[in-house]
Amino acid sequence: MPALVLLGAQWGDEGKGKATDLLGGSVDYVVRYQGGNNAGHTVVVGDQKYALHLLPSGILSPGCTPVIGNGVVVDPSVLLSELSGLNERGVDTSKLLLSGNAHIITPYNVTVDKVTERFLGKRKIGTTGRGIGPTYADKINRVGIRVQDLYDESILTQKVEAALDVKNQILTKLYNRRAIAVDQVVEELLGYADKLAPYVSDTVLVLNQALEEDKVVLFEGGQGTLLDIDHGTYPFVTSSNPTAGGACTGAGVGPTKISRVIGILKAYTTRVGAGPFPTELFDEDGEALRRIGGERGVTTGRDRRCGWFDAVIARYATRVNGLTDFFLTKLDVLTGWEQIPVCVAYEIDGKRVEELPYSQTDFHHAKPVYEMLPGWNEDISKAKTFADLPKNAQAYVKALEEMSGAPISAIGVGPGRDETIEINSFL
Ligand code: GDP
Ligand code: IMO
Ligand code: MG
Repeated sequence: MPALVLLGAQWGDEGKGKATDLLGGSVDYVVRYQGGNNAGHTVVVGDQKYALHLLPSGILSPGCTPVIGNGVVVDPSVLLSELSGLNERGVDTSKLLLSGNAHIITPYNVTVDKVTERFLGKRKIGTTGRGIGPTYADKINRVGIRVQDLYDESILTQKVEAALDVKNQILTKLYNRRAIAVDQVVEELLGYADKLAPYVSDTVLVLNQALEEDKVVLFEGGQGTLLDIDHGTYPFVTSSNPTAGGACTGAGVGPTKISRVIGILKAYTTRVGAGPFPTELFDEDGEALRRIGGERGVTTGRDRRCGWFDAVIARYATRVNGLTDFFLTKLDVLTGWEQIPVCVAYEIDGKRVEELPYSQTDFHHAKPVYEMLPGWNEDISKAKTFADLPKNAQAYVKALEEMSGAPISAIGVGPGRDETIEINSFL
């Protein structure tokens, strides 16, 4: 069994943390390959709840080595506080591996993120304000700071100087802010060097050697397919590639090594931040989904926008990721509706459209075409097998599977590890 990718099939917050943690006990490595602490992955183990932002969810499984790959952007202060928070709760984090090639979110990247959003006003993206976009922009602009730069003061100083040269002009002349001092940034970053040193390694080599030895490697995506910089609802996206291909570039592992790509799919839809969302609800049903589903952001505490399941999006996720399986989460949240609408196609300017339009304008005009599926009232949170589900819940799952284009191999009926119906084994 070589490598598996587990990723968000919608706009994030599908339950990737729970799904990763569930598999964590049976895999050797869990790897984050993109994004940063814009992610908020919740894992519930017994009566303990963990919110992970930068660390892979495998950190909670003792036999598993957690890895932060080269494609991730790392805020050192967030990483260190996440580690100490877990240590205080008795979690051993000593096995963590951090790529020396991962880029660092510097204090000025966070400032630029916040200032840019403010400047955009009504046109803002609604970012998490964690400096994600500006850090990836610096990476692509070739003025980024990498983890390995913390170990060469002279190179670090030169790079911070180069990065701040233009930024300080923009901050002072365009945004009317104070300039950021090079030495202050360098001093802060150098202060992290010794603390991070035990974790820094050549993660590409480690992972490829592990795969040679037939170890099982699980790639844990952040965000989701529709937030992908290339395949999402641009410009209302994040600045990385959560889609399956991102695992290859973000960890340095070839596509031939990946045998399975699991899309995490909520039984309805949510989105945080701005951007188009055809099935969004502004009525009592939307409120009910938010309340019953506990749909509040793990990272920023913002209310999530809620809507019905969108099969057009699920099909799109199957296509752009080459999904082999779905893990359907939060089916329990839908208990109690008499009928559940499911979006099967869009109507765009009077025409029925079956697939996600590539044009941003068309997508903004897309109106959902709903099919009504019968609901159920029985509590499903104790269901252990597919047969334990009420007939209408079974039919809902089967209908979603048919519309979405890949088998549903697991179903979440609650936040806990064991509140899962496993249909096909992932390993
Ligand atoms: P992630 O970002 O994809 O890891 O998802 P989040 O952790 O941001 O949001 C998912 C939320 O749903 C978390 O609070 C989970 O504990 C919870 N959750 C995950 N799976 C299920 C499920 O099957 N049922 C219910 N009721 N909650 C779930
Ligand atoms: P997880 O991994 C949901 C959204 C933000 C904003 C857009 C860009 O928990 O699913 P950014 O700070 O990345 O530049 O913001 O992306 N966003 C998320 N939405 N879940 C996430 O992560 C997200 N990470 C970023 O709300 O709309
Ligand atoms: Mg989340």
